[in-house]
Amino acid sequence: MVEDGRKVLADVIHSQVDVHREFGGVVPELAARDHLERLPALLDLALEKADVRPGDLDLLAVTRGPGLVGCLLVGVGVGEGLAAAWAKPLTGVNHLWGHIYAAMLTRADLEPPLLGLVVSGAHSDLVRMPAHGRFEVIGRTRDDAAGEAFDKAARMLGLGFPGGPALDRLARTGDPARRPLPRPSLPGLEYSFSGLKTALLYRLRELGDSVTDQDRADLAAAFERSVVESLLEKLDRALDEMPASEVVVAGGVAANTLLRRRVAQVVAGRARLTMPPLELCTDNAAMIAAAGFHAARHDAAVDPSLGWGS
Ligand code: KG4
Ligand code: ZN
Repeated sequence: MVEDGRKVLADVIHSQVDVHREFGGVVPELAARDHLERLPALLDLALEKADVRPGDLDLLAVTRGPGLVGCLLVGVGVGEGLAAAWAKPLTGVNHLWGHIYAAMLTRADLEPPLLGLVVSGAHSDLVRMPAHGRFEVIGRTRDDAAGEAFDKAARMLGLGFPGGPALDRLARTGDPARRPLPRPSLPGLEYSFSGLKTALLYRLRELGDSVTDQDRADLAAAFERSVVESLLEKLDRALDEMPASEVVVAGGVAANTLLRRRVAQVVAGRARLTMPPLELCTDNAAMIAAAGFHAARHDAAVDPSLGWGS
């Protein structure tokens, strides 16, 4: 529940981590079924927390994509049902727009134009946002997304699921210089993380059974540093090539400790930086409500095709 696309009245999150943990990753069918089972109670809780009645609502917003098809279907079905039952308009929202709009919930006077870096489980995208509901991708990954790379590295290091936050914690006890890993570097504003992943695999093979907890912590720190510095190298270049006064860094990976610290140093003195708080970086409903509000107000219809399409 969000007011005017700027203020969170209630943001209720049910984590599915326990459902997927034993499988070491997200199982799409289980994810969709859990959405269906949990949504009614979550909606009641959100209304109660916000102290809002359905009649008070002006607009319903639901994610149309990109995302897991089964989960999207459940969401859109529930959204359409509620819109019919409550006689309210419903708007479809692009998931990636949502990550950028999470920043608008963080800073009341944040407006486009802005330069955005959205780093999640499936995307590492540099975008320009010239106006509400308008996005132009200027850089993306050729292979793995940053979050996917963190999750796979975490699995190799025996950290289980969910990998990104676990690798973040382990890296805090490691020294990135002791067992350095290469920093990916492609021309222009493109990213690539699959070579780095292979480098980690080889390093672990070399160590074999002799690998110690400290080795694993050092490798986690080295991996994290390579991903973060690669993300920042391109953000730095984008800021040089297309100066902007506002920078937004968002998406699940923007919860990473090292990224949060380093991005502030890279952007300092060149633009104002907004990073949503951790709970608004990882997927949440408030960001979708905010994106729905702003997109509807600016008449920016969402094309359900994947990517940043508008
Ligand atoms: O945006 P998000 O919640 O879901 C998607 O839209 O994909 O991003 C999830 C991704 C996962 O890959 C997760 O491992 C990563 O964000 N992540 C992190 C951290 N917290 C979440 N990666 C590194 N460090 C973290 N602290
Ligand atoms: Zn996301």
